[in-house]
Amino acid sequence: MLPLIAGNWKMNTDRASAVALAKGVAGGAALHKQVELLVCPPAVYLSSVAEALAGSGVALGAQNMYHEANGAFTGELSAAMLKDVGCQYVILGHSERRHILGETDAAVNKKTLASLAAGLVPIVCVGELLAEREAGQTAAVIRRQFEGSLAGISAEEIEKIVIAYEPVWAIGTGKVATPEQAEEVHADLRKLLIERYNERFAATVRILYGGSVKASNAGELLAQPNINGALVGGASLKAEEFLGIAAAG
Ligand code: 13P
Repeated sequence: MLPLIAGNWKMNTDRASAVALAKGVAGGAALHKQVELLVCPPAVYLSSVAEALAGSGVALGAQNMYHEANGAFTGELSAAMLKDVGCQYVILGHSERRHILGETDAAVNKKTLASLAAGLVPIVCVGELLAEREAGQTAAVIRRQFEGSLAGISAEEIEKIVIAYEPVWAIGTGKVATPEQAEEVHADLRKLLIERYNERFAATVRILYGGSVKASNAGELLAQPNINGALVGGASLKAEEFLGIAAAG
């Protein structure tokens, strides 16, 4: 499987800087064929970024969606709308949505099922808070989020899913998980996949690490056997730094 290096731009950039950043990533993509590159701009810039990426092989993703297909859901966007503007991926259940906006495992599960039905690849995020890690609850939290967010996903569907492990204490803090800390959770996630499906299906699922990934620490993280890519926040806002992470893949 090709490692996936994904940039989550969060609520950053304006239209001009989003287009410039996309062009910067697109311009360097040909040098990094050993990884798949993905950028996830704010939804209002998806179309502009899609144009800037055209023909580059860099994939486009959204940062969130709603599970309903259409109707009276003011302010929400459906999976079909995201596909319509060129998205192949959608990030779901990011910790900022879980902890700032109150998104539950049940909501993430509905979105995951709807994204798959529409032909979008969901990147389903899990991760523990610092207090949960310190209380020795990391494995239990990850299991609960895995089971809740991925309930009812068939073996055929699981092959189309990406999982991202983002320890909340490592997001935007500069405090990266050590490769050993990250690999321990990634190996647990792989075991959960094997328990639920089987070795063959479990082996097809890319599990990304996210949390203060930079060009300088990406190599040792991506060298771990169960880390199959990175979900990058801050460092994805500079094309050169993001491509530096791709070079480590
Ligand atoms: P940082 O890379 O800024 O820590 O953010 C990680 C993240 O939340 C990516 O989704």
